[in-house]
Amino acid sequence: MKRRPIQEVAKMIGQAAMVAGWVNNRRDHGKIIFIDLRDRSGLLQIVFTPENQELYERAKTLRSEFVVRISGSINQRPPKLINDKIDTGRIEMLAKDLEILNEAKTPPFELAKDTISVDEELRLKYRYLDLRSLRMTKNLIKRSQVAQFFREYLIKEGFLEVETPYLTKGTPEGAREFLVPARLWPGQFYVLPQSPQQFKQLLMIAGVEKYFQIARCFRDEDQRGDRQAEFTQLDLEMSFITQADIIELIEKMFINLVETLYPHKKITQKPFPQISYQEAMDKYKTDKPDIRRDKNDPSELGFCWLVDKPMFAYSASAKKIVATHHPFTRPVKSDMEKYPDEPLKWHAYSYDFILNGFEIAGGSIRIHQKEIQEQVFKILNLSEKEIKARFGHILEAFEYGAPPHGGIAPGLDRIMAILENEPNIREVIVFPKTGDNRDLMMDAPNFVSKKALKDAHIELAKGIEAEAGFDTEMAE
Ligand code: AMO
Repeated sequence: MKRRPIQEVAKMIGQAAMVAGWVNNRRDHGKIIFIDLRDRSGLLQIVFTPENQELYERAKTLRSEFVVRISGSINQRPPKLINDKIDTGRIEMLAKDLEILNEAKTPPFELAKDTISVDEELRLKYRYLDLRSLRMTKNLIKRSQVAQFFREYLIKEGFLEVETPYLTKGTPEGAREFLVPARLWPGQFYVLPQSPQQFKQLLMIAGVEKYFQIARCFRDEDQRGDRQAEFTQLDLEMSFITQADIIELIEKMFINLVETLYPHKKITQKPFPQISYQEAMDKYKTDKPDIRRDKNDPSELGFCWLVDKPMFAYSASAKKIVATHHPFTRPVKSDMEKYPDEPLKWHAYSYDFILNGFEIAGGSIRIHQKEIQEQVFKILNLSEKEIKARFGHILEAFEYGAPPHGGIAPGLDRIMAILENEPNIREVIVFPKTGDNRDLMMDAPNFVSKKALKDAHIELAKGIEAEAGFDTEMAE
């Protein structure tokens, strides 16, 4: 017999079936033993009766999280045992055979219950167990469905999915960068991208016209509820496009997503309101307005756009002018002409996409002319030399027929956390890091061997007490 997922077996009343998975729990009722078997697709009640003594004795040894394979017949439950709270609550399996595939220690926390109130460090250390719980499994499945939805939607709209490198050069998005030493180039480093920003613009110059990627981004910044050091963007870029076109595409895609995968949710206002930066600051006192009518309603989704953002801002902490989105954003031409020496008065073709008071995407129309890009870098206080060293490649590319282009990048983690009504993005990230950037399950970061340091041409600074890690080769 073939092993079938529980969801499939639910439709096989009156037939024999074989299932496999984990023991969610065991209940002994007088002479009858019930177990709930769990697989990725759901829960199935399985009944063991003393008629088959040997099987019954084996069932008695079952404990939570044992891995088992069971065959038997699928029956309708007696009316008083019907549980309408679960999909398979009207059926059960009468066991005919049981094979214990592996035993399990008692887990450090209960998996048959919602794990949200369990100590988070413990959940992260044993993430592979946490992920077995119903809510976490559901979050994983939903995330996969949402990613698939976006992928299919964009392909239908004529986008090309392109993967861009992770070992690259810095691209400014306002955070500190992760460095990777280049073994073959002593003293030089790759930088993990804060976003695929420059690559996607270069793809427009390459003639790709409509690009997307579900891309990992790396930012070495302090972690908060809605931030991780590595996170995922649905990154998009298009040529020959206006701000209005991008807003329309994203709006339609998100309405379609909600209608398809979250039909029970309601959207506060359609089309999504476009609020100017100034109006948001005056009326909502924030650049992330929460426009929901009822902020306590978990099924309400308040989407809006923040538009007419300033191109630059004065950063008091850095004591200098910085780009409010990023330096590749195109300033409004009439502002540049009107206030040639007052860049703080310039607006930009940039837009933030806000959901329930969180920024879930940011994007802009880009500069595609070398002179304007150089001008922006100079306003940001970069010297000629620095401009050439850091951005010479893209400035040169602008000289070979760069089309006008623009894009946006929705943050998948934040979107999932809001859609799933989770309190932070760690609940929708499969293996997230702690607030101080540790992976407690893998125990990373960690020390590396002396040889690995030497190969990377790295000497640790005085005062750093490093243990030597291990590096015995185990594969060819
Ligand atoms: P930006 O920096 O605004 O734009 O990022 C876009 C979206 O990515 C998400 N995001 C994050 N999510 C989790 N953890 C983080 N540390 C984190 N940082 C950002 C947010 C945010 O709205 N290249 C531009 C996009 C563009 O112009 O097309 C960019 O990265 O949801």
